Amino acid sequence: MNPLKIFSFLLTSIIIAFLIIWFGLFNISAKEKHWEITTILLEFIRERSIEVRAEDIQIPNTLSTPEMISNGAKNFDAMCAQCHLAPEMEPTELHLGLYPQPPIFYKAEKKHETHGLANTFWVIQNGLKLTGMPAWGDFHTDTQIWEMVAFLNVLKGMSATEYRKLVGEGGHTHKEGFTHSEKPHGTDTHQTETGHHINSIDDHTTHGTHDH
Ligand code: HEC
Repeated sequence: MNPLKIFSFLLTSIIIAFLIIWFGLFNISAKEKHWEITTILLEFIRERSIEVRAEDIQIPNTLSTPEMISNGAKNFDAMCAQCHLAPEMEPTELHLGLYPQPPIFYKAEKKHETHGLANTFWVIQNGLKLTGMPAWGDFHTDTQIWEMVAFLNVLKGMSATEYRKLVGEGGHTHKEGFTHSEKPHGTDTHQTETGHHINSIDDHTTHGTHDH
């Protein structure tokens, strides 16, 4: 093919792509599902991106210690359950409204089974662009993130009783020096705090006074 033809083909493609964008033909609404082929492509991009970046992460050998698991449970309950849900918790608006929908780890979901421990660590630390999964690495030490990995590793199939036992009185931890800009939980000090989120299951299913 002569170079001029290639050039005009490329130029036409760019102009068509621009027009599609300009006229708003791509629907950015979270209520509009991707085409099957787009989902397959995006998931493939996500998997490869995580896999490559998590390759050199060393997995600690302490993940099965009860202390790590219960610390992870507390942080999960305070920071993750509103999206990823917990045993016997009613689906939240956040869980239902997000697209892609956050995986429910306590249910045996095929989606999560494909991720190894290092990949899970990387995802929690870095978040996932364009999905609603936040990056937690700036506010949490590696240990605190591994604690959540340790907990997620045993969460599948867990009963609500076992979950509540692990969460105990609740409370969550952050990196030293990190404070929330607003303090919705009262007297938060973050390294050693305990006592709030006493029972997240009740907490998350009743919203106080707001109407729908
Ligand atoms: C605002 C909602 C939200 C919060 C809060 C949230 N996540 Fe997520 N998370 C998501 C969404 C959405 C995805 C799915 C992204 C996708 O499908 O690609 C996700 C994906 C993940 C994954 C990868 C799932 C897989 O397939 O292996 C892990 C691990 C994870 N989250 C852990 C956590 C942890 C731990 C916390 C708390 C520290 C947390 N998330 C808090 C929305 C959230």
